[in-house]
Amino acid sequence: MATEPAPISFARGAPSLDIIDVEGLRAAADRAFTNDPAGSFAYGTSVGYKPLRAWIAERHGVAEDQVLVTNGSMQADAFLFETLVSAGDTVVVERPSYDRTLLSLKGRGADLRAVPLEEDGVDVAALTELVRANPVALAHLIPNFQNPAGYSLSGDKRRALVELAREQGFTIFEDDPYVELRFSGEPQPTMLSLATGGEVVYASSFSKTVCPGIRVGYLVGQADIIAQIAKLATGTYISPNMVAQSIVNEFVRGGSFDTSIETVKTALAERSQRLCAGLREHVPDAQFVEPEGGYFLWVNLPEGVDGDALFDAAAARGVQIVKGSDFLLDDSKNAIRLAYSGVTPDEIDEGVKRLGEAYRSL
Ligand SMILES: Cc1ncc(COP(=O)(O)O)c(C=O)c1O
Repeated sequence: MATEPAPISFARGAPSLDIIDVEGLRAAADRAFTNDPAGSFAYGTSVGYKPLRAWIAERHGVAEDQVLVTNGSMQADAFLFETLVSAGDTVVVERPSYDRTLLSLKGRGADLRAVPLEEDGVDVAALTELVRANPVALAHLIPNFQNPAGYSLSGDKRRALVELAREQGFTIFEDDPYVELRFSGEPQPTMLSLATGGEVVYASSFSKTVCPGIRVGYLVGQADIIAQIAKLATGTYISPNMVAQSIVNEFVRGGSFDTSIETVKTALAERSQRLCAGLREHVPDAQFVEPEGGYFLWVNLPEGVDGDALFDAAAARGVQIVKGSDFLLDDSKNAIRLAYSGVTPDEIDEGVKRLGEAYRSL
């Protein structure tokens, strides 16, 4: 009897278990429960577990009342959209962009405008033209190792965007969960650090540096908007998960954070390199930019290739990918997203070989 090939997933933007510091987390939980049982097990407050909030504030060089710690950064996104985006408001998104954000903004009835994403980040000239012609409430930008494209925003564009937001009076939502995962190239300043008057609200997460199951993310902004969102958070869930946040607090303060980031970056660098090499060999038509960090590779295929059909052909060979069309508001189909975060190098080699077969079968 023929056996099914073992499934290989390039679909999930999540780390494989082998790069999660389980022992570090166990030790952090032990310290959290021993050192601060009252803080860990009580309701706490809607701004989050105070010692972690203080650590985040210090890391970003902001006051503590500018930080709100949430259940994952997705929750931070939802609170921010609830606060700043009403039905009919124009919101700029990158093309392509993170599918969950697109769905969330669509669900709010926002008038979404997709601005092309270039290899060095969003097309600032196109964005400028758009905001000068039409008032914009918010621009959602993913500056580092963008999901789904893997591209990063250059320093010059970051400065130009903050200046534009100041001039035109819109808010930049800097969605930055991958910032710590740079394995090559030069780090760039956050737009938050370049802002002078509340032009930027920033979100990040411990999902990619500690683990996603812990569900700890955060928002940084002007104190007044954070206070407004804290009220919304109180009404939503009283307070976020204090147990998770006190564990993360011990993890980041106890030295495990830096070690964990190094482990993750080393693995991602190797996986990304294996994926790029495999694609060059097995799918020579694939066009892509080698990522400098993060989880994702965006693959453009020749015009007319149907990425949706490739999705089916790959699935038939036990390989999961994500259709590029999931990240677009138009019906262009000749791209796919490959995540290399959750697959080992050997799985990558085998998965890309099967992807090549699937591509040739179209
Ligand atoms: C751009 C972007 N924003 C937000 C999130 C949500 O992250 P979290 O796990 O912190 O909710 C993700 C997760 O993949 C993401 O890629």
